[in-house]
Amino acid sequence: LLLLQKELDNLANTIQGVKKEHVKKEFEGFSELFRRFLDESGPSLDWNKIEKLPPDAVIDYTTLQIPTADILHEMLNKLVVVKLNGGLGTSMGCYGPKSVITVRNDLTFLDLTVQQIEHLNKTYKVNVPLVLMNSFNTDEDTEKVIRKYKNLNIEIHTFNQSCYPRINRDSLMPIAKSAQIDDNLEAWYPPGHGDFYLSFQNSGLLDKFVAEGRDYCFISNIDNLGATVDLRILNVLLNSNDKNPEFVMEVTDKTKADVKGGTLIHYENRLRLLEIAQVPKEHVEDFKSVKTFKFFNTNNLWIKLSAIQRVVREDSLNLEIIVNNKILEKGLNIIQLETAVGAAMKSFRNGIGINVPRSRFLPVKKTSDLLLVMSNLYNLKHGSLLMSPQRMFPTTPLVKLGDNHFSKVQEFLNRFANIPDLLELDHLTVSGDVTFGRGVSFKGTVIIIANHGDRIDIPSGAILENKIVSGNMRI
Ligand code: UTP
Repeated sequence: LLLLQKELDNLANTIQGVKKEHVKKEFEGFSELFRRFLDESGPSLDWNKIEKLPPDAVIDYTTLQIPTADILHEMLNKLVVVKLNGGLGTSMGCYGPKSVITVRNDLTFLDLTVQQIEHLNKTYKVNVPLVLMNSFNTDEDTEKVIRKYKNLNIEIHTFNQSCYPRINRDSLMPIAKSAQIDDNLEAWYPPGHGDFYLSFQNSGLLDKFVAEGRDYCFISNIDNLGATVDLRILNVLLNSNDKNPEFVMEVTDKTKADVKGGTLIHYENRLRLLEIAQVPKEHVEDFKSVKTFKFFNTNNLWIKLSAIQRVVREDSLNLEIIVNNKILEKGLNIIQLETAVGAAMKSFRNGIGINVPRSRFLPVKKTSDLLLVMSNLYNLKHGSLLMSPQRMFPTTPLVKLGDNHFSKVQEFLNRFANIPDLLELDHLTVSGDVTFGRGVSFKGTVIIIANHGDRIDIPSGAILENKIVSGNMRI
């Protein structure tokens, strides 16, 4: 640790002025994380100490009351909306922040968020601010984009999360040669969304909002299109007579498709998040069970601002460290130490889960998710996506698009003349070199597989119902 700290000092000395002070402060955060990483060997929890969730630990969303109109104004003025915006669009083949990818009607994730909050502000004559947690990867581009919202009825604040040095897996020393991050971007990383608490506090925004009389923040992933401000949940936070929870995690029923998501557990008399990374190998199958662990974390979190001030002041966060092993382009093995925002639940008082409908979890991670949200399965209203009433069942279809031809947004868009009708679709699998004409309709289960070297063009107007298309078959 001493060697690392010496190396960090050397790095900080490669820059001057105010920036140097800032970097030194960030390095203190990193040293602390690294110290814990060295100290903590073995699993961060004792599997046998996990208890059954108490019956009142998770509230069913459908039992929540809609607050009366007369208190809405006051309630909303106590809220701050935070979007986690540190991530890039690389996994979908895009450059720049993920939040500037166009998802629907020429609108990006950011545009949709802004529309939602602007609508809230107008409707209830309130001033709910939007806060973006950027990273060094997304800050510059985000700042450029948000200028266009200047004249709208929404106050936007940004702050930057930390920038930590990647560590050589063998030497356990930073791979950076200077603290000028632009000199070697690969040598740095944003340490996960668990960094929110410290960075929000350091930005001064937390204290500012508390001084303004704001009470709670609603945090969510910017790529979760279902994460809208919910008045029933806000009502639980502000108007539960007995105990107002300091931390609410929105969870939803786990299906076989979500077995890797974090789950809520009762441990040492508190609720906490359990991520697969913390599970001892011999219990991974137990962890995946949808019966034992019924819920998973949507990462929609509602947290009391004054409680964040307290846990940061008391330094009691102790977020479990996620060790992310990577191989860089040059073949260098590195590790980056990360933390997750939901892992802080155990440090707050009266934490509860709310079992929300699946519609509050609509993440766009792949182009198959994009296909769904661009389609007629949804209608757009004031920046929110609502499932079309024409869909017979409220479940979303299962879509798998082949990695080789569909993983990048541009490539995916080029393959569809327009987005097919998905209203009656249950399951779609597409693999290989396949293109789609205009006005195509899928119903039931449709599987289209073009073998290597073949190409399948689905003609305009085709209606594919419970159909398998393969080889170079004609439709
Ligand atoms: P990811 O897309 O990386 O995570 O980030 P995930 O696959 O959903 O899984 P979890 O939630 O990490 O388990 C989720 C959100 O967090 C932001 C991203 O921009 C995205 O909105 N994020 C991630 C940050 O703001 N900073 C980070 O360091 C990492």
